[in-house]
Amino acid sequence: MIYSLQESEWMKKLTTREQEEILHLTVLSEINKKFPIALEHQKKFLKAFIQLMEDANLEVADALYESYAALISSVTIQEELNFKTFILEEGGMLTLEESTRMLSHGTTGLQIWPAALWLAEWILENPDVFENKSVLELGCGVGFTGLFTALTCNVQQYVFTDWHRKVLQSLCRNLNLNLKQRQRGDATLCRNCLDNFDNPNTDSDMICKTLRRRGGGEEEEEEEEEEEEEDLLDVIGDGKEDGAGGTVHLASLDWEQADCDVKRFVKPDVVLAADVIFEPKLLPSLAETLKVFLNNQKGNEVTAYIASSVRNEETFAHFLREIDSSEIGRRSKGPSKEIFHFDRSCPMKLLKLYSRK
Ligand SMILES: C[S@@+](CC[C@H](N)C(=O)[O-])C[C@H]1O[C@@H](n2cnc3c(N)ncnc32)[C@H](O)[C@@H]1O
Repeated sequence: MIYSLQESEWMKKLTTREQEEILHLTVLSEINKKFPIALEHQKKFLKAFIQLMEDANLEVADALYESYAALISSVTIQEELNFKTFILEEGGMLTLEESTRMLSHGTTGLQIWPAALWLAEWILENPDVFENKSVLELGCGVGFTGLFTALTCNVQQYVFTDWHRKVLQSLCRNLNLNLKQRQRGDATLCRNCLDNFDNPNTDSDMICKTLRRRGGGEEEEEEEEEEEEEDLLDVIGDGKEDGAGGTVHLASLDWEQADCDVKRFVKPDVVLAADVIFEPKLLPSLAETLKVFLNNQKGNEVTAYIASSVRNEETFAHFLREIDSSEIGRRSKGPSKEIFHFDRSCPMKLLKLYSRK
């Protein structure tokens, strides 16, 4: 439920006790103490709250002034970091760290973008698409779409991919934060993948051997058979048998790298991406990457869902031309309900892509 400070008549009748209750449900809540949203947002919220109480000629709770004073005088330890916590319908929470900046460390991948939230609204309405499916995400950023899908749908496997080192590091922290203390029914995080990313000597094309084997890499299968057996037990032995969620992997994948292991070994049923249509020079390689996954030789039907904020019509049209020039058909339909709070001023499009074969 989202309450707006501007529109709520009931807020203009709050007692000091009720104001304190709201304070303890927001700025002073346990979630915010543990995973604080950006200091700037907290200050703005309390300032607007106090202003609203004063404008309505209400007695303002001392605790509001005290908390505001504490915020404006506090040293900004995590100026660049923001935590967002989502309460899931089935119970449980999803908490992600993100940057307060749209562009940070030369990448746009450190923030959750509106198209990712919009895509999650669609996923919530279409869980069947993911039922027992192997899903791969392109340009996953800090991991909101994937964590949301892996925790709310019954996927068989979810493979997060991105290429930027800082983005992958932030993704690792978010995966650890949400999947480490796994409960029955949650997705299981592949430890081999995380170990891969902890190893500073690995090259840019990182994919764990468990994922290679599952994708059907025969050479690796022979070479590492015994070792693999143990890994598989480690990774999935305590998961699927009790009807729990699928296994979560992460791998580095650069669309511009034509020949890479992820493209070779991973054969998903569903490909997801949010807000990846933005840089004209990347569009041919993005379309080419999609084509590889859509036309894999596994014999299964593969579908891709690409959610996009259409900020520039020409860039979007350019991507459609790249798609049309390949053997890929397309249709689109977005979510019907608004659930998350984000700026919806920019038009959104959801492309459903499938191979014409
Ligand atoms: C606008 S962000 C979207 C992030 C996330 N999907 C979301 O919607 O919150 C674009 C993402 O594409 C990734 N990206 C950009 N160029 C890429 C490339 N050549 N190969 C793979 N990923 C790339 C970025 O690292 C970033 O995570």
